[in-house]
Amino acid sequence: MGCDAGTLIVADLTTRVGPLALRNPFIGASGCFGYGLEYADAVDLASLGGVAVKGLFLQERQGHPPPRIVETPAGMLNAIGLQGIGVHRFVAEKLPELRRLGATTFVNICGSTLDEYCDIARVLSDHEGVGAIELNISCPNIKEGGIQFGCSLTGTYDVVNGVRKVTTLPVIPKLTPNVTDVASFARAAEEAGADAVSLVNTFLAMAIDVETRTPRLSNGMGGLSGPAIRPIAVRMVWECYQAVKLPIIGMGGIATVEDALEFLIAGASAVQVGTANFVDPFIWSKLINGLDAYLTRHRLAGVADLVGTLQMNTHT
Ligand SMILES: Cc1cc2nc3c(=O)[nH]c(=O)nc-3n(C[C@H](O)[C@H](O)[C@H](O)COP(=O)(O)O)c2cc1C
Repeated sequence: MGCDAGTLIVADLTTRVGPLALRNPFIGASGCFGYGLEYADAVDLASLGGVAVKGLFLQERQGHPPPRIVETPAGMLNAIGLQGIGVHRFVAEKLPELRRLGATTFVNICGSTLDEYCDIARVLSDHEGVGAIELNISCPNIKEGGIQFGCSLTGTYDVVNGVRKVTTLPVIPKLTPNVTDVASFARAAEEAGADAVSLVNTFLAMAIDVETRTPRLSNGMGGLSGPAIRPIAVRMVWECYQAVKLPIIGMGGIATVEDALEFLIAGASAVQVGTANFVDPFIWSKLINGLDAYLTRHRLAGVADLVGTLQMNTHT
C-alpha cells in the first residue's frame, strides 16, 4: 500500500539535509521503525523522507531483559538496551532490500569506543545503499553505548571528527537532551565536521511500582519519549537553529502534522517520528498530506520556505 497512493501532492515537499535530498521531511525514527523492512507492507518506504534503522553495534546484542517498556502519561519509557543484529548482518540481510525498495536509509550506529564507531562506519562505507550515518551518542539506557561521548563536548567532537575521517557518507550525530546547554553540543558537532545534527534522543527517566517498590523497568531507568517531551524538544531545536548553520533533524513526540510543523518552523529541515508510529503505523500519509495542505493553505511553495520561520513575540 503506497503511503501517498491516490493523493495529488501540490506543494514541493522535498527538503535538503546537507548533501542529502529527501523526498519529504518525514523519517522513521531509530528504534521505532525496526530495520524499515518490517513496515514495508504498511508503508511504501520510498515515499518517506527516510528510514532511520535501529542502532547497530559492530556485533549482535541481546539488550536488557524485560520489562523494557512502560507506558507513562502522554509518553513511554523504554530501556531496550540497544538490542540489534550488528552491522555485518545488517549489510548482508537488510541493506540490499532497503536499497531495492528505494528507501533513503539513515544507519544509526552505536559504539563502546571511538574505534568501534569508526569500524562500523568503514563497513557501511563499503556497501551501496547507505544514505547517511546517524551517530547515536545519546542512548540514555546503557552506560557504554555512546552516551559517554554525547554528554561531553570533547567526546562529541572526537566521535564526529573520528568518523568524519573514515567515511565520505553524511555524518549526523544524534544529540542527547540530557545536558544543560544542547546548543554547545551542536556547535561541537559542527566544528568536528558533521553534515547535520539530529535531536532529541529520549530523556533519562524512571517509573516505580509502588506495591513492590521496585522500578518498572528491569534496567531501573530508561528513556522517555512521546508527546510528553515535545515542547522541550522543540525548544532545543530552536536553540540549536540559532547556534549552528548545520541542517537539523528534529524529533520528540511528533504525532500530528501540527507537531511536525512546530519543529520545521523552529528550524528543523526534516523530522523523525518514533513513538507515534507504534500507535499508528499509517501515520505517514496523514503527515505527508497534512504538510501539503498546510503549505498550500499558507501559499508557501515548499518546505524550504517554512524552515526556521519562527517569529518571536515582541514584548511591550
Ligand atoms: C523503543 C525505542 C527504541 C529506541 N531506540 C533507539 C536507537 O536504537 N537509537 C537511537 O538513536 N534512538 C533510539 N530511540 C529514540 C528515538 O529514535 C527518538 O529519538 C525518541 O524516541 C524521541 O522521538 P519520539 O518521541 O517520536 O519517539 C528509541 C526510542 C524508543 C521509544
